[in-house]
Amino acid sequence: MDIDLIREDFPLLDNIAYLDNAATSLSPEPVIRAMNEFERHYRSNVGRGVHRLTTIATQRYWDSHIKVAELIGGEDGTTVLTKNTTEAINMVACGLEWHSGDNIVTTVLEHHSNFLPWVHLRKKGIGVSTIEPFPDGMIDISAFESAINENTGLVALTHASNVLGNVLPVKEIASICQEHGARLLIDGAQSVPHISVDVKKTGCDYFCFSGHKMLGPTGTGILWMKETDIDPLLLGGGAIDKVSLDSYTLAEGYQRYEAGTPNIAGMIGLGYAVDYLRKVGMDNIERHEKKLTEKVIHGLEDMEQVHVYGPVEKSARIGVVSFNIEGMHPHEVSHILDEGSDMITRSGEHCCHPLMEYMGLPNGTVRISMYLYNTEEEIDLLLATIEEITRRL
Ligand SMILES: Cc1ncc(COP(=O)(O)O)c(C=O)c1O
Repeated sequence: MDIDLIREDFPLLDNIAYLDNAATSLSPEPVIRAMNEFERHYRSNVGRGVHRLTTIATQRYWDSHIKVAELIGGEDGTTVLTKNTTEAINMVACGLEWHSGDNIVTTVLEHHSNFLPWVHLRKKGIGVSTIEPFPDGMIDISAFESAINENTGLVALTHASNVLGNVLPVKEIASICQEHGARLLIDGAQSVPHISVDVKKTGCDYFCFSGHKMLGPTGTGILWMKETDIDPLLLGGGAIDKVSLDSYTLAEGYQRYEAGTPNIAGMIGLGYAVDYLRKVGMDNIERHEKKLTEKVIHGLEDMEQVHVYGPVEKSARIGVVSFNIEGMHPHEVSHILDEGSDMITRSGEHCCHPLMEYMGLPNGTVRISMYLYNTEEEIDLLLATIEEITRRL
């Protein structure tokens, strides 16, 4: 993995250290070129007509579905392209058939996108059980054993926390779901970009993630389904086989869930993002991020006024580290890192209000989130700057 070569593909990195990859990642030149090529040379709609432009666009758009499915070992399921993880999760929440008395099991760790759709269902008489993690964010499997029963319609949980970086034991939770006939939805927004994921091995029914967090363009996301067992959120052009005056037959496969003209340039770009990730190798990316993460954690733990959140166990985590400096607002720290050292970090509650409340952090944290293009030199500079900030206190 040649980081210098990789960085040449990301011109934005010339002047900044980009450490906000959990919010959105950057797109490399091949992705940007692919989108431009669509606009300049074969822009047209997809799945409509037979002219020369639509033939190319439709093929490339189709290819993106295949590439994404291959990345996550999901060739046997259905891969639907969406706007983002949020849309994918809402499609499941709205598309499943709910009955009064059904129960949904989720956790306090969830991003609002994997929390609000379930809380909203309370209005329809659906119960929502929210499992609390240990103070370090790790999950107690026995809490799932107690919470999941024959009334559990769905278990919805994150694969990796966007605040604490820990990877959850989804396979074990999938086994409990299977024992009770409960469906499992995994929010993979923070796992697929950073670690090798095989959806079949996770044992889930629905797997949702964002293309824009894995080098793809903004406005791209994915809903992978084991079976096409939910109703489509939208009905209209492109999603049907046949329409008569009083009925319609839905298309088979992903098309039934992708009514209307999609983000064609973005989705073609997403296919190139997958090519890029596979060329670098997900195992290489995971190893690289692990090395950087350990460096960040060790460096921060050595500073007295700094509190690092998340599990001490460093093996099962992605490159996300949350911390605070005593007596400072997270926004203040993030602002100094940006203004003083050109380091882009995230501060605040990270769309996880329930988790922040549970952790007693009303202002949230500063979050560093790394990716394949970050370097040890950037981490050295980050740690030196944070140490300098603490010295001035
Ligand atoms: C764990 C997790 N789930 C869901 C989302 C929502 O992703 P999107 O904004 O792409 O819908 C995010 C975004 O940060 C996330 O980190």
